[in-house]
Amino acid sequence: MNLLSLFDLEAKQIHQVLKLAGEIKAHPAGYQTCLKGRSIALLFEKPSLRTRVSFEVGIQQLGGQAIYLDAQMVGPGQRESIEDIARNLGCWTHGIVARVFQHDTLTRLACAGLPVVNALCDQHHPCQSLADLLTIQERYPVDLRVVDILFIGEGNNVCQSLMVGAAALDLKLTVVTPAAFGPNEEFLQKLKEHFPHHRIQVKHDLTDVPHADVIYTDTWVSMGDHRPIEETLPIFMPYQVNQDLIDRLQATTVLHCLPAHRNHEITDQVLDGPLSSVLQQAENRLYVQKAVLYMIYQEFAA
Ligand code: CP
Repeated sequence: MNLLSLFDLEAKQIHQVLKLAGEIKAHPAGYQTCLKGRSIALLFEKPSLRTRVSFEVGIQQLGGQAIYLDAQMVGPGQRESIEDIARNLGCWTHGIVARVFQHDTLTRLACAGLPVVNALCDQHHPCQSLADLLTIQERYPVDLRVVDILFIGEGNNVCQSLMVGAAALDLKLTVVTPAAFGPNEEFLQKLKEHFPHHRIQVKHDLTDVPHADVIYTDTWVSMGDHRPIEETLPIFMPYQVNQDLIDRLQATTVLHCLPAHRNHEITDQVLDGPLSSVLQQAENRLYVQKAVLYMIYQEFAA
């Protein structure tokens, strides 16, 4: 089993991950051995705080060993091919968690038959979305299908993964981006093919949105995107998450996957304010990732 994007999981499996993550969060002592004797390679081409630490801690808490591999040291596609790296890792380790520039690198890493988990690529950030969904579920312990979720910013990997998760679970999601910064057209087509009746709207004018329970935003300049901030600010500033927006939409939860660019996409007042669940969201990375690993390796053990 791989987790390259949330397209890899059926709705039932997403619900299973969220339920298991909640159980692991409540009763961590019951899940200390599922990775016993197993080593997982963490191959990262990009910087990370939350993803790296939560995977390393999670793997250790499940009884396994995490081996962090800085891609500059390993040299994927330069020192040796991605496929050769995967085949060699298969000699010693039992899985690969990878943060990569291109989604295609993940599919190539999967060639060796080791489970591969996407720790962020240009198109998807599935572990982040699972943590987002768990956080929303904890904030609204009702049928999630009645919660109005609003994502504001660039239609980036975090946004696209959230869209797949929302479509799979039949959630109400509105995505508002500047006109030239929406989700990828090819991605939108694939989403429609997988979920023809999804309830996701993509808009470009924030004044078209009358209400949201959850407001979610992310950086306006993604990692690896070299767009200068002075070009970005005039385009994105009308999409800033600030107290006026929260008051107008009567939102009750604010999310951000972090790292935040304070007073750009979100103000200090909101990020540090009473509606902010960003640290709960960051903490939940640990539990959903442990749940994903548990499900992958239980499958192998079965
Ligand atoms: N949200 C997230 O993926 O954080 P890092 O980039 O620090 O891992």
